[in-house]
Amino acid sequence: TPLLAFMCLIAYALGSISSAVLVCRLFSLPDPRLSGSGNPGATNVLRLGGRGPAALVLLFDVLKGTLPVWSGYFLGLSPLALAAVGIAATLGHIYPCFFGFKGGKGVATAFGGVAPIGWDMTGAVLLTWLAVAVITRYSSLASIVTALLAPVYAWWFKEQYAVSVTLLCALILYRHRDNVVRLWRGQESKLTDKRR
Ligand code: G3P
Repeated sequence: TPLLAFMCLIAYALGSISSAVLVCRLFSLPDPRLSGSGNPGATNVLRLGGRGPAALVLLFDVLKGTLPVWSGYFLGLSPLALAAVGIAATLGHIYPCFFGFKGGKGVATAFGGVAPIGWDMTGAVLLTWLAVAVITRYSSLASIVTALLAPVYAWWFKEQYAVSVTLLCALILYRHRDNVVRLWRGQESKLTDKRR
């Protein structure tokens, strides 16, 4: 439908605003695409500039997913149409048209897109990520484990969103393939160190 196409376009454009790059510019920090892990996301901004700038990036990137999906929900879009909007926002973050199509891994934006499903889903996903991150200190491992479990949670809490969440998680896992190799070799950087 035209409404769905329009919403996907808006979501993709919003997702394409690379907040990590903009926030680093604002605070005169190194370009997150060239420093640390090279990933323009909240984790790498935490490495480069500490908690304040990282929190700002996290908030903005989550909203890039939440705002369009929420709007779509109130406009009466079906679960699968909402999935398309959430995926469009996440694809914008990963392949941003305003930043040479080189973006992040989509964790915060996908989480933002999934959050409107409900507090149970949001809580389960958040607790999983935090538990793995606190125990292992690997942001990437936390994201990978969460992306593996989120489809199960969706199926458990709100079955009608299980397919949508699975598609989003597949995208995120695909984006973490370099991290998987680094984790496997014991070369992955932890939440706070700058090593690649
Ligand atoms: O959200 C991205 C995170 O899962 C990994 O980030 O910078 O450690 O590759 P990074």
